[in-house]
Amino acid sequence: MAQKSPKPLVAGNWKMNGTTASLREARLLAGMLKGVRLKCEVMICPPATLISTIKPVFKGTRIRLGGQDCHGQANGAHTGDISAEMLADVGCGAVIVGHSERRTDHGETDETVRMKAEAAHRAGLIAIICIGETLAHRKNGETLAVISRQLAGSVPEGANAANTVIAYEPVWAIGTGLTPTTVEVAEVHASIRTKTDPDMRILYGGSVKPANAAELMAVTNVNGALVGGASLKAADFIGIIKAYA
Ligand code: 13P
Repeated sequence: MAQKSPKPLVAGNWKMNGTTASLREARLLAGMLKGVRLKCEVMICPPATLISTIKPVFKGTRIRLGGQDCHGQANGAHTGDISAEMLADVGCGAVIVGHSERRTDHGETDETVRMKAEAAHRAGLIAIICIGETLAHRKNGETLAVISRQLAGSVPEGANAANTVIAYEPVWAIGTGLTPTTVEVAEVHASIRTKTDPDMRILYGGSVKPANAAELMAVTNVNGALVGGASLKAADFIGIIKAYA
């Protein structure tokens, strides 16, 4: 497949999965990618507990590390939270913010997400800002309006192609095995593109698997994938990366 500009990004979001036993998959992935020239960037966002342990495993590879969330403040009395500065300190180059699971489980609003994205930028991290409609929104024909509202509310001033990635993840496609049609993906990504820098990467996420990756990644304005379940096994994740072989 011809390489699209900007350089695509395939990022694995391990979510709340992974213990030291998962280092085996990280080692497998590193072994498979060592010395391989890739047409996409590759990133793994492990749980925060594993970032420092995985870092040496990825040494000598082009696999980057990212966090799954950050607090808006740099430090302070926020028990259980992690700041963007802390993620940068342990070797992350990016952080996911506004994932629908954070929006649902922790009541994060567009404003919270924007503050987190600003924190990422302050710490020199790429903010991977997630947006996406629910099934009810889609059934009511509200998808593009919801996407537009989330973009306007979550993307901070100063966001550019170098410091920000948008991840379109339809909530109903996450972990369900369901995916929008390529026409539906193209429609949403085209709409996002009208509101972003032409070089800003727009990832698709939601049930991306080796079997559907090539088709989804070939859609216009899809500049990579944010992968959940299929990023947990090196063989599956490689199968997705191969969409850019
Ligand atoms: P799945 O790939 O498991 O559907 O998860 C997608 C996701 O939420 C990535 O952030």
